[in-house]
Amino acid sequence: MAITSDARLHLAERTGIGLRLPHIAEVVATRPSVGWLEIHPENFLANPHGLELLTDLARDYPMSVHTVGISIGSADGIDRAHLTRVRGLVDRLNPVLVSGHLAWSVHGGAYLNDLLPLPYTEETLCVVATHLAQVQDALGRAYIIENPSTYVSIATSTMTEIEFLDALVDVTGCRLLCDVSNVYLSGHNMGYDPYDFIDRFPAAAVAELHLGGFTPEEDQATPGATLLVDTHAQAVAEPSWDLYAHAIGRFGAQPTIIEWDNDIPTLAVLAGEAARGDRVREHAHEGRHAGSR
Ligand SMILES: [Fe+2]
Repeated sequence: MAITSDARLHLAERTGIGLRLPHIAEVVATRPSVGWLEIHPENFLANPHGLELLTDLARDYPMSVHTVGISIGSADGIDRAHLTRVRGLVDRLNPVLVSGHLAWSVHGGAYLNDLLPLPYTEETLCVVATHLAQVQDALGRAYIIENPSTYVSIATSTMTEIEFLDALVDVTGCRLLCDVSNVYLSGHNMGYDPYDFIDRFPAAAVAELHLGGFTPEEDQATPGATLLVDTHAQAVAEPSWDLYAHAIGRFGAQPTIIEWDNDIPTLAVLAGEAARGDRVREHAHEGRHAGSR
């Protein structure tokens, strides 16, 4: 299903939250004032009660399905049985957006608990484009691709991440999810300017933005250096909010989700982060229009 411009405008008005299992009963009971809900389908495929609750929520909130187990970059192909299960959930919830990561996490039938990096090469481009077509066919929906959090560069890469995303959009016509916090932490870890990255990101393809907290950890490979790890275990960091305002200046107001997956706070704290997202976006969007007058 194409994303209609009306639905995109609606989602762009209010920040949404990543809905995780500890908050579901409270969200069902209290219907908090957040714009929309994004779920990981893998949390619900063997959870019929959770799926019942989600189906109820889908009557009141626009939903987004953000997969973490499709592994679009796997060299040994896509798990068709998993795709079929996700299709069942997608058909039931009728989400406005469906997305997943530019990464791999399955090998030889083993599901790894990580989103692992890909070499940016013509061969990877061909693999991801082929799998993207298979995923979209199987789900009956557009499948939006998210930029990864990066900790290492792969020596065999022949393209930068931006060049790879540009090529992927050119070859497949796909839309992109820009995780602004991933851009910030990857820029720190890899030594590039995150503002320049946003300025060169394929803006016309952007369909959604993410914000999530990261955790500074000692870099084992470089004594004295700090690595920023995409833990989603705390509030969105101030530099990520600043970069988000810059991203809105470049991309316009875009549907945005706050992700918080570990050390999950109260629902009120999470809703407060979403409210801050609304304020930052409105301010940045007004500045964008004032600047264009
Ligand atoms: Fe994300």
